[in-house]
Amino acid sequence: MSQDSRIKSNAFREKVMPAEAAAALITPGSTVGMSGFTGSGYPKAVPQALAKHMETANAAGEKFRLRVLTGASTGPELDGALAKADGIEFRLPYNSDPIAREKINSGKMEYFDVHLSQVAPMTWQGFFGKLDTAVVEIVGVTEDGELIPSSSVGNNKTWLDCAEKVILEVNSWQNPALHGMHDIYYGTALPPNRKPIPLVRPDDRIGQTTFRVDPSKVVAVVETDIPDRNLPFSPPDETSQRIAAHLIEFFEHEVRKGRLPPHLLPLQSGVGNIANAVLAGLNKSKFENMTSYTEVIQDGMLDMLNSGKLRMASATAFSLSPEAATNLNANMAQYRDKMILRPQEISNHPELVRRLGCIAMNGLIEADIYGAVNSTHVMGSRIQNGIGGSGDFARNAYISVFMTPSTAKGGKISAIVPMASPVDHINQDVQVIVTEQGLADLRGLSPKQRAETIIENCAHPDYKPMLKDYYRRAREHSYGQQSPCLPSEALSWHQRFIDTGSMKA
Ligand code: COA
Repeated sequence: MSQDSRIKSNAFREKVMPAEAAAALITPGSTVGMSGFTGSGYPKAVPQALAKHMETANAAGEKFRLRVLTGASTGPELDGALAKADGIEFRLPYNSDPIAREKINSGKMEYFDVHLSQVAPMTWQGFFGKLDTAVVEIVGVTEDGELIPSSSVGNNKTWLDCAEKVILEVNSWQNPALHGMHDIYYGTALPPNRKPIPLVRPDDRIGQTTFRVDPSKVVAVVETDIPDRNLPFSPPDETSQRIAAHLIEFFEHEVRKGRLPPHLLPLQSGVGNIANAVLAGLNKSKFENMTSYTEVIQDGMLDMLNSGKLRMASATAFSLSPEAATNLNANMAQYRDKMILRPQEISNHPELVRRLGCIAMNGLIEADIYGAVNSTHVMGSRIQNGIGGSGDFARNAYISVFMTPSTAKGGKISAIVPMASPVDHINQDVQVIVTEQGLADLRGLSPKQRAETIIENCAHPDYKPMLKDYYRRAREHSYGQQSPCLPSEALSWHQRFIDTGSMKA
């Protein structure tokens, strides 16, 4: 073992073995908690070796499938490889891998889409059964056997605590300067033993910088140097720049009204291209000294840290383009005082989101005229990704914003529809909707006032007359007048798209 080994504890060094041997310790049918949150900090060598075992077993007519739990989405070496090998029986809590998505939508994989803050407590309660194995990527092992977390924290504390056996991937691609960036809080519990979480500012540190693990549970340590892998973001286009401009104008208005402080409140920015583009807009805005209490640190947030617009960022993971990930990894030490990575039960904790007064900014698939939001499904039945942390933040935020281009798929789909299917965020949890057409501030409005505002401000001109016509007829013929609706017609736009490839009449 070389002098500069990342594994400083003898007890762990004795467990080093090739990925194939470690993967062979995972048995078909078992439940495995893997690290990983977006394309960061997920195990890369063991899942790829596992996928080979699965392919061999499948070719021999034996089924080798696992129940796979993670922090959120992961990378192609994990979700992609295991899904391709048809090796995932059941998956939670969030997925954006295209192969896994196809398996879910074709009924070959069971998928439990759940609020990300609730995965750890549900595991402690036993809803996912016995956790057989944890496979967790780390940066290194300290002399006293504590684990230095990697580029995401996710549910790793819970997997390490609850699994019967533990496999560690020590990844030397990850910069050792990550040591010290994390804040792992060990004070959470189930009722009736819960106590207030002592975090009152986004930059508070309330835990320790390492994970604890019972060394007797560690059955394998695998050394790797495989980089984190994420997809690049689309560069901000005119549509996303207009969304950002509307939102920034709204924030300026709120500051003038005295409802937001000049440096805003801790920002939560969702996943995806639009959220990233809004951060690029904020980076050019006049706001200074901002903070974030969020789930993932995207490229846009890194740019804001670099420009000094953002004072600090708290999250559970990085979600960076390949270029940004490489840059950050090369310069990690200079970010250690500006970033904190926490377990997702803390980064997304409703108690903390409400206390800090986060400004939640999340993407949506579709919103209905009353402001109910679907974040997860296309045409009512096909999953896109999942709810992720949007529910954790939206319900508890100081201001809950949802944003989207007003159309999808080249204009064939309207993002504003008579009725959303399904509803992930009820209208009471949706305060602001923004499209490139404009912004609807729904605070204090009744359902009918919301409908008029959303149609007028947010709908695309191609769909506005159709929405106005629907709403007018609903007012005339509805069973009730609180939220006028024509049930037999409300989802007809979705059916028309399924039948003809367009929502247009
Ligand atoms: N109908 C059909 N497809 C739609 C759609 C609609 N109404 N709205 C968006 N899509 C598709 C887009 O066409 C695109 O598909 P493609 O990848 O095949 O091109 C994909 O969804 C992504 O849309 P895009 O417009 O690029 O936006 P995005 O990258 O900002 O993602 C969500 C939007 C809703 C998919 C994404 O924000 C998400 O998964 N949200 C749920 C989880 C969440 O909010 N997490 C944050 C918590 S911290």
